[in-house]
Parts: sequence; C-alpha cells; structure tokens
Amino acid sequence: MSGVNEIRSTFIDYFAKNGHEAVASSPLVPRNDPTLMFTNAGMVQFKNVFTGLEKRSYSRAVTSQKCVRAGGKHNDLDNVGYTARHHTFFEMLGNFSFGDYFKDRAIELAWNLITREFGLPKDKLLVTVYSEDEEAAGYWKKIAGLGDDRIIRIPTSDNFWAMGDTGPCGPCSEIFYDHGDKVWGGPPGSAEQDGDRFIEIWNLVFMQYEQVSKAERLNLPRPSIDTGMGLERIAAVLQGVHNNYDIDLFKALIRASVEATGVAAEGAQTASHRIIADHLRASSFLIADGVLPSNEGRGYVLRRIMRRAMRHAHILGAKEPLLHRLVSALVREMGSAYPELQRAEALITETLKLEETRFRLTLARGLGLLDEATQGLSEGASLDGETAFRLYDTYGFPLDLTQDALKQRGIGVDTDGFAAAMERQKAEARANWAGSGEAATETIWFALREKVGATEFLGYETEKAEGVVQALVQDGKDVAVLAVGTTGAVIVNQTPFYGESGGQVGDMGLITGAGFKLKVVDVAKKADGLFVHTVEVVEGSVAVGAAVELVVDHERRARIRANHSATHLLHEALRSVLGKHVAQKGSLVTPDRLRFDFSHPKPVAEAEIVEAARLANAIILQDAPVSTRLMAVDDAIAEGAMALFGEKYGEEVRVVSMGVALEGEKQGKSYSTELCGGTHVGRTGEIGLVHIVAEGAVAAGVRRLEALTGDGARAYFTDQERKLKDVARELKVSVSDVVDRVGTLVEDRRRLEREVADLRKKLAMGGAGGGDEAIEVGGVKFLGRVAEGVAAKDLKGLVDEGKKKLGSGVVAMISVGEDGKAGVVVGVTEDLTGRLSAVDLVRVASEALGGKGGGGRPDMAQAGGPEGAKAGEAIDAVKRILAGG
Ligand code: ALA
Repeated sequence: MSGVNEIRSTFIDYFAKNGHEAVASSPLVPRNDPTLMFTNAGMVQFKNVFTGLEKRSYSRAVTSQKCVRAGGKHNDLDNVGYTARHHTFFEMLGNFSFGDYFKDRAIELAWNLITREFGLPKDKLLVTVYSEDEEAAGYWKKIAGLGDDRIIRIPTSDNFWAMGDTGPCGPCSEIFYDHGDKVWGGPPGSAEQDGDRFIEIWNLVFMQYEQVSKAERLNLPRPSIDTGMGLERIAAVLQGVHNNYDIDLFKALIRASVEATGVAAEGAQTASHRIIADHLRASSFLIADGVLPSNEGRGYVLRRIMRRAMRHAHILGAKEPLLHRLVSALVREMGSAYPELQRAEALITETLKLEETRFRLTLARGLGLLDEATQGLSEGASLDGETAFRLYDTYGFPLDLTQDALKQRGIGVDTDGFAAAMERQKAEARANWAGSGEAATETIWFALREKVGATEFLGYETEKAEGVVQALVQDGKDVAVLAVGTTGAVIVNQTPFYGESGGQVGDMGLITGAGFKLKVVDVAKKADGLFVHTVEVVEGSVAVGAAVELVVDHERRARIRANHSATHLLHEALRSVLGKHVAQKGSLVTPDRLRFDFSHPKPVAEAEIVEAARLANAIILQDAPVSTRLMAVDDAIAEGAMALFGEKYGEEVRVVSMGVALEGEKQGKSYSTELCGGTHVGRTGEIGLVHIVAEGAVAAGVRRLEALTGDGARAYFTDQERKLKDVARELKVSVSDVVDRVGTLVEDRRRLEREVADLRKKLAMGGAGGGDEAIEVGGVKFLGRVAEGVAAKDLKGLVDEGKKKLGSGVVAMISVGEDGKAGVVVGVTEDLTGRLSAVDLVRVASEALGGKGGGGRPDMAQAGGPEGAKAGEAIDAVKRILAGG
C-alpha cells in the first residue's frame, strides 16, 4: 500500500473534496495556549474557534498536525524505542467541524475514508462509544452496518476526550483495527485490552462542552467535531506491518542511521536506531519551529531528546557526531509536506552538530562514572541522587538520560535525592548573589527568577501569545494584584515581547485578560532571563495566576526589526568602504531611527557615506533571506561573525547572517554575519531602504551614524522634496533649475554688494568732485565726513583718497555701523605731520564718541567709540583742535 506521504495527502484531499479547508499545521510551540508546552493534538490551533472566541472564514477544516509528546503533561519520552507505537514526535491527521456537521456526518466521512479510500476490510474494524452515547452507537449501526458485537460501550473517561484540565471536551468514539490473532491482546474494555492486537487508529471527538474550571462545564455555542488519527499508526496498518518503526518513513531514517554507523538494526541495536530516528524527527521539527537547546523550559526538553539520541549514537559506536548527518534523509522524506524543515535545514544540521560535539566531550567520562557508581548495584536497586546530580551538573546528563542508561539493567534512580542535591546547589547560588554588590539593588529580580524560573521568549517566532502571570511587582515589592490606574511590573511564564538588550529597545503592546487591560510601555531583562514588562493598568486589575494574551505592537516591532537589520548591513558596508578597523562601539535601535557608533579616526567623507549606503541598499534589493543559527561562540567567530569586543557571550550564541556578498573576499558567502540576540526581518527587502542622515564624532576615534529605514526614510525624502519644491516655487523655476538659479542669485548678490560698497564710498567722498567740500580751518584744509553705509574697514581707503585730493590737509572719516557704534580714521598729509599728529586728532574724535584711545601713526590713525550718534560732534572736536581751540 501507499507510503506515508501518499496517505497524508489522500486524507487531506478526501476532506478537501468534502468541503473542508486544508489548513497548515500550526507550530509545535502553541501560540494560543499558555498551559501547553508543545502542541499535542490537531485541535490545539482551533481551541478558540470551538469556544466561539475566534471566527474563521470556514466552518470545516482538515489538517496534518505536527505533535510532540515529551515533557509537560503527555510525556512519552521514556517509552520511545522500546514499544511499537510510542513517539516523541508524530503527525495527527484530523478533520474538524466548527458548528457545521456533527456525529452522523463525522461517522459517515470517517467510515467511507477507511473502508473505501483506504480499503480496510470491514471485518477488521470495531468501534467504541461512550456508554451514555446511544446516539453514536445508532449511527454506527445505520451508517457502517456494524453489529452490537462490534460497537463497544466504554463507561470510563477513556471515551471522554478533554484537551486538558480546561478547554473544549466531549464524548468520543474510537475506531480500532484488529491485527489478527497472531498478536496477543483483547478488544477495548476487555482484560487484555493493553495487548497489541486491537489498535486504536482514529478518535472522533464529539465536542460539546467547554470545561471552564474544575467545577464548571458549559455547553459549546454549537456542537462540533474534532478527530485525530495517528499517521504512523494508519500507515502501519495500510502497509501491513505491526510496528510503527517498520513503516516506509522510519525504514528510510533507520537505513540512514545504519549506513552512517555501519551497525545493523538487529537485536539490541534496534532500539537505539529507533530512538535515533524518532528523536531526530522531534529535534529537527522543534528547531525548525524556533526552539533551541537550553537549560530550561522547552529548550531543555529539546536538549533531553537530543542527548538521549546522542547516547544511543554512542552505544552504536558512532565515531563522529551522528545526528546531523541524518538530517538530509529526514528532509528528503518529510520536507515537501513541511517546507519549514527545508528552510531550517542548515540551522537544524548545525544545532545538532554543535550539541553532539559538545556532549561527546563529557559523555564518555560521564558513562564511566555511571559504570563505576553502579558496579555493585543489582537489579531493583537505585543509583544515589547525589551521583545522578553530578552527572547532570558536571557531565550534562539529563535525569532521564541517566534513567534510560540504567533501565535495561533494571536499576532505578533516587529522584528525591537528585532533587535535594539540586536544591542545595540553588541555595548556594542564592547566597552568592545575595552577597554581591550588583545584586543588592536587584535582589527582587533574582528572588523572582529563582521562584518562577526564566521567562520563555517566543518573540523570534511570534508577536502574539498566551501566558500565565507568574509575579507582579510594584514599588520594588512582590505583590499579588496591580490595580487600575497604577503602574507596575508583570512577569509571565512566556512572552513574545523583546526585552531591551544589545542596543535594541524593548517592545511595547498590550497584555489583556478577563476584565483587565495592561499597556506595556517597556520591557527589560533582569537576573539572567527574567522578562520584566512595565505596564500601566488601563482597565480592571490583574492578579498573579491570571491567564493573559500578550500582543506586541506589530508596526513598532516591524520598524525596529528593519532598523536592526539595517544596522548590520551598514556595519559591514562601512567596513568595506573605510577598512577593517571599523568595529561597533555601540548602537541604539529604536522604531524611529538607528544609531551606530564605530571606531574610525576621522570624519567620514560625504562620498564614503554615499558609498556605504549604496552597498547596504544593494543587499536590501537582493531581498535575501535572513538566517539565524545557534553556534559555539568560538566557531562563530572563526567563521567570521562579528562580535562586540569585551561583550560577555554565553557558550552558545545566535548568529544572524544576511545577504550574499557579490564582491571582495566574501564573494558568494553571507554579506553580513554577526552575533546577535535581536529580532530581524525575514528577508532584507523588508528593510525597504536605508538612508544615512547624520555623521559626527562621539569621542576620540569614535564616529556616530544615524540612519532611517523604510517608511521613516520615505517620510524623510518626502519632507526634503517638499522643501525643495517650496524653494523652486519661491524662485519661480522648475526643481531641476533650482541649483543654477541659486548659483546665479548668489553671484548676483556678490556683484550687487560690491557695487553698493563702491557707491557708498563715492557717496562718502561727496560725489565725483570730492575735495570741493573741504574747508579751511586754522590755515589747514580739512575734509570731515560721516560716511553712511561704509564699512569701518573701508575708512582708511577713503581717508587716503581724501588726502590725495587735498594735496595738503587733514581728513577725518567716521562710519556708524548698524549696531550704532562708530569707527573713526584721521589722516594728516606728510607735509603737516611736523605740527599735527593723526594720533592726537583721532583720540579727540574717539573721546567725543564715548570711546578712548586709538592708535596709528602721525599720518594715519584709527579709533572707535560706542556712541555713533555723536559722529557730528566728533568732527567738530577735530575742527576745534585745528582751529587752535
Ligand atoms: N483531539 C483528539 C485526540 O487528540 C482527536 O485524540
């Protein structure tokens, strides 16, 4: 029969033909449920549609949903590899009706698919119904023609399906396949039901209620349908195999593992190959959905899955890291159904390689220690918690890895002892930070960090998520409630809000819940991973424990993203234009503009700015994808990633790359590669445009650029253009003639100024005749004038001219500036300097002007005075001296 890919598309096509919207799988990290660690059923993405909170354009849907059951409530991790049907990752095929059809149509659609399209023989099938649901039993009789012996009534919660403690729920009906009497087991409800003969293949849930709290159950607005069929199980049935790991998809993955290790999938090694194949899927899909290995939360579940597989690679004797070499086989098998896997192939490969490379450094020693510690233990005994903790803390062995390693020998682990050892270490850490200076002011954050754990950041993948309030802080104190009209801090278990760091400002947006609304005005990161949302309570009051929806201001975040990515591009562009000495010295990324400080010893020339902007814009025009990887810091730097000198990085870092270098030494490789924890555009084209608007000095050897992107840059150009048009209108020319026109105007103005100065001088000399106005005082010819509009610096020239005209005599010229102050120059012809000194005369004039002093030579001296209005008196004063008065 057909392969997994064909079965998946047959299912989707069948329901699409029957009026269902084919909806893509939602991500493994649920966006709309704060209580779920991972998406674990097809209905999760439709939770709010069932309850009527959310409306969609369709009322029937079909999906193939990625699910992970590891960590959290449903945890199948321990069983994987040792049973026929447990997986950490699986695909759930499902059809949904949101108040459209109900039981009868659901049963009819299901029955026709499995018996007609899939061709399963009717006598191999039986169904269960909830014991109170006679209606469903009736439909099975009528539609499928099943007799009572094949309709099993189950009175327990086995046939009442609920998403969790709260949420949509209802009675269900399951379809079972009989693998035949070669396999041990009995029908559901019988004493042998746990055997493997009768296998559930499809669960039809008749969604009727919403469990609001433990005590309260409401009717859904309209009865609905949610179904779930494990793709791996139905594939096993259709391919005539009993074990899910024998279906085509797993055979291909196990074949790749066998080829890479050279170890056959036989005997005891079978479990290891199966574990590797299963965990490869879970790890790869989680990484593709934005989860990266870490020591807390989802990231830690991923790390546990990865390391469990890696220990099995070690058991198989793999000499080199194994898992990353199997990624291409996985992408080949599943990439066309899940394109996100193709897109993230490089990230998955590198993340797996990094994790395995690092883990192998301690794995062998850890296993050595484990062997030593358990040498004397026999079946049924337990490893002490202290050793298990040392394996965890020093050798990176998650607890379940240690348990898995001892499982086959029947040895357990003292988990209480493990927890006690963990608690002791925390207490020591607490004592340490309580004593450090920095911690003193931040004590509250450290205390909360320990109490509620790190906040999980979802903002690389989404701008909207649900969460649960973990703590509230007001006036530096841990409080239970924030009331309307007040300001405080909110800590949530997970958040899409970016906390200010690496130069990028914190996000703003809204947090809402039942009866309250909080405006997020800033978000900061405290105490190693606690995201602190500063909020104003706009409506109602919020209490610890409240379920909330967190929505980031999308517009603002989009502008921040564009500015952040543009900063990386400018950094690289400046390095190619100015030289490799250019290094980032600081940056500020806000929604409105970006600021970038860098080392460079002198001002950046206009042409260099233009060239840097041209290079950055060329990468924007490439509309190249922006990729993010997690790498060991040393490897990242060896690969040429730019890091901030002196910045403290964790052992593993995010590396952001964008664009393709078209020239230079990096030709064909990533244009920009930087260590960065910020949020970035998906493709460079989203930046739109980058334009540098300012360049200046900040400190010795450090320059600062400011730039705008996208809409900000466009608004800037619009404004500039408007100004230019205003100028053109004033000048009465077209925009293209403005520069010429302004040039002409400036030239005209200079010429006119020259002419005016000349005319004024002429005027000062009393027109063409000049000397005619000289008078005779005390036997000396005297020419005295107040030269209006003549600059003080031109007075000397006028006095010289006057002296020439007189031949013999005294000339005094005074000019009064716009500020009312006067300048005065007095000249005495050579023949008279024996008895008259220009210096004495100018002093007298200056005194009359309210000034004093002056200086020069006997034939020419100058001075000034503040009282220009007394210019006439100053001339008179000179006359008096000449007259001998
Ligand atoms: N939601 C149902 C399940 O997970 C179909 O079994």
